Amino acid sequence: MDKNITLINNTIAFVKETLKDAEGGHDWFHIERVWKNTRTIAESESCNMLVAELGALLHDIADAKFHNGDEEAGPALAREFLTSQHVDEEVIYQVEMIIRHVSFGGGNTPATFKSPELSVVQDADRLDAMGAIGIARAFHYGGHKNRQLYNPGIPPDMTMSKEKYRKSNAPTLNHFYEKLLLLKDLMNTETGRRMASRRHAFMQTYLIEFLSEWEGG
Ligand code: ADP
Ligand code: NI
Repeated sequence: MDKNITLINNTIAFVKETLKDAEGGHDWFHIERVWKNTRTIAESESCNMLVAELGALLHDIADAKFHNGDEEAGPALAREFLTSQHVDEEVIYQVEMIIRHVSFGGGNTPATFKSPELSVVQDADRLDAMGAIGIARAFHYGGHKNRQLYNPGIPPDMTMSKEKYRKSNAPTLNHFYEKLLLLKDLMNTETGRRMASRRHAFMQTYLIEFLSEWEGG
């Protein structure tokens, strides 16, 4: 048990150092929130807590969005770190698979891997894209990419592929309709669904207010 606490602490230090210059929506505090959500959700799931916690802590260690689309950078860096910590191969493999599969792949991307720990971490990560924090992260990301807040002349496009989506320069408000409002129906766990429903309602209220203010309401 002590061995695991040391491993978690070493992982936290590694993640903080690796993400020290990360964009504000993908920084250590995002990881910390996902880690907390993971522990909350995992309480009512039967899963391996060490795998889930390591998966949460390492899930955005080298996000492909910020690494020229290289999907293997994250899993490789996590493997290298965990190997240096003498972690069992089975645990490393499970964590790698979480990092590979955690991200939202668009509505028609088939799930090719499933594990109880991935279900938990995926819900935990999705929750951080919803609600008050999700709204802040979306506009922060849009600002980082110099996107418009909203443009009534550019309607949301629900049919974009992952690749096209990444390159799209659409206004940030579109992101709510293209992704954030879809998340509540993608939750894997009961606790995730319950937490998501509150955050979803808050986003809906926010959007009604936003669009009303846009019209001078
Ligand atoms: P994660 O890294 O958590 O798997 P993403 O990388 O897809 O998820 O998104 C991280 C954060 O950046 C989320 O809060 C998401 O809403 C936001 N984000 C991603 N793409 C866009 C976009 N096109 N417009 C606005 N926000 C975005
Ligand atoms: Ni994330």
